Amino acid sequence: MARILITSAIPYINGIKHLGNLVGSQLPADLYARYMRQRGNEVMFICATDEHGTPAELAAAKAGKPVDEFCAEMHAVQKEIADGFRLSFDHFGRSSSPQNRKLTQHFAGRLADAGLIEEVSERQVYSNADGRFLPDRYIEGTCPNCGYDSARGDQCENCTKQLDPTDLINPRSAISGSTDLEVRETKHLYLRQSKLKDTLDAWISSKTDWPILTTSIAKKWLHDGDGLRDRGITRDLHWGVPVKKGEEDWPGMEGKVFYVWFDAPIEYIAGTAEWADANGLPAEAWQRWWRTDKGAEDVRYVQFMGKDNVPFHTLSFPATIIGSGEPWKLVDYIKSFNYLNYDGGQFSTSKGRGVFMDQALSILPADYWRWWLLSHAPESSDSEFTWENFQMSVNKDLADVLGNFVSRITKFCRSKFGEEVPQGGTYGPREEQLIADLATRIRAYEGFMEALEVRKSANELRAIWALGNEYLQEAAPWTAFKTDVDAAAAMTRLSLNLIRVYGVLSAPFIPDAASAMLAGMHTEDRTWPDDVATALTALPAGHAFTVPEVLFNKITDEEREDWQQRFSGVRT
Ligand code: MF3
Ligand code: ZN
Repeated sequence: MARILITSAIPYINGIKHLGNLVGSQLPADLYARYMRQRGNEVMFICATDEHGTPAELAAAKAGKPVDEFCAEMHAVQKEIADGFRLSFDHFGRSSSPQNRKLTQHFAGRLADAGLIEEVSERQVYSNADGRFLPDRYIEGTCPNCGYDSARGDQCENCTKQLDPTDLINPRSAISGSTDLEVRETKHLYLRQSKLKDTLDAWISSKTDWPILTTSIAKKWLHDGDGLRDRGITRDLHWGVPVKKGEEDWPGMEGKVFYVWFDAPIEYIAGTAEWADANGLPAEAWQRWWRTDKGAEDVRYVQFMGKDNVPFHTLSFPATIIGSGEPWKLVDYIKSFNYLNYDGGQFSTSKGRGVFMDQALSILPADYWRWWLLSHAPESSDSEFTWENFQMSVNKDLADVLGNFVSRITKFCRSKFGEEVPQGGTYGPREEQLIADLATRIRAYEGFMEALEVRKSANELRAIWALGNEYLQEAAPWTAFKTDVDAAAAMTRLSLNLIRVYGVLSAPFIPDAASAMLAGMHTEDRTWPDDVATALTALPAGHAFTVPEVLFNKITDEEREDWQQRFSGVRT
């Protein structure tokens, strides 16, 4: 039994996320958390809402609400939707929590003591039309690196380069579009991460087992051009963690807050502290996950995120942690994802293009989405959601293969033997072969799950389901029944047991259907099939069951066309 700490990139508070966001972090993190728990490991799975920064302020203003109220409401909304998708967080925290405020200020104090923070008097973009300093991401212009014309002042979406607003060519306010911008003098704190360049470089280089997508992005920002640049970690905003040096005031920094990207990853730690507090546990309970001097040296820490988040997790956050000089747990493995596109274009939050998490749940249960998204996770390249493909996968994998297997054998048994596992008969070569094939595939499935190969895991699971169908097709207990009742009983007993095994194996992907399968088989036995032959005897002859409701409905062409229409344009 191992201890596994899992974090998913924390979604911004301003608005409901689309399926591309979901498959890039929270959903695969949940898959891994569920699998690891099921295999008997101790898991701590943390996510939260990313609540600070200008986008939150502006969204609140748009909703006509005070920002704290807006965030509290949106947090509740996101939490409910996360529950709807069966995301099994141990805690879904808030980056605006008192725990995060305290930790963020603590880290800043430690970094200052270590000489890693520099006070810089700098010139900042002020928009006369908007009457405010413009935060980085509210300045748009042309990327100096790739020429993309809608690059944001903090990062170019197109080439992922981290930017400063003054790098942009032809800058304009993203709020008003005004080009009446001027530069004013103001003081800010910079994290001198360049001083940690060699340390970070050595650390990244030691991670030879990380996905290429992760290390290549990190290496790129370590070595390209001017290399690892110092980052401004304060902003002129009201909403955020007030700038303090530990518990002390920071002269000259009154009225400023930390940059959202400084406090957001610290929320991974703070969220664990929130979990402990919410459960009435002492500080040791969360520290044993995060402090290597307090038990975390044997923790395996895995992070999940989209590729645009990689620089912050491979460089900036580790710089904060390492720079503190304290024994904090560093990430052991970063699983990053490419983008999921939508029906010939991009998902777009601003344009309302694509399917958003709440809409998805309003048309189909979570398992349908979980299966499609995970089995098409954008791992080695970007992938694309199309309604045709979604319909095909659901109808084939879930309805024709898995659903059909369950329904066929349970109904057959009910009609011939009644609703209990039949007795009599023995297993022959066909059954031995099935058991051998299952064992091979299940071991492969385990290997892919351990290795965080999401698509390959899904493929293996699909193949495991298909083995059952093929067996049933060939064994044909309905035919055998006419001449050899005992043989038909043995086939049926094996197949009913296979439903339980499917429930166990499928739970990380499709938890609700898995529960329905187990409930149908009247069992809570979620024992992993370490030995397949033994696993297939868990439900003995005479064990009662109930034919389950249809597990998965097929998606009709009319439904598909209707949804295609509804989600193509502006969100209503
Ligand atoms: N909110 C960010 C996004 O959606 C992710 C923040 S991850 C964390 O891109 F590390 F900062 F927590
Ligand atoms: Zn660019």
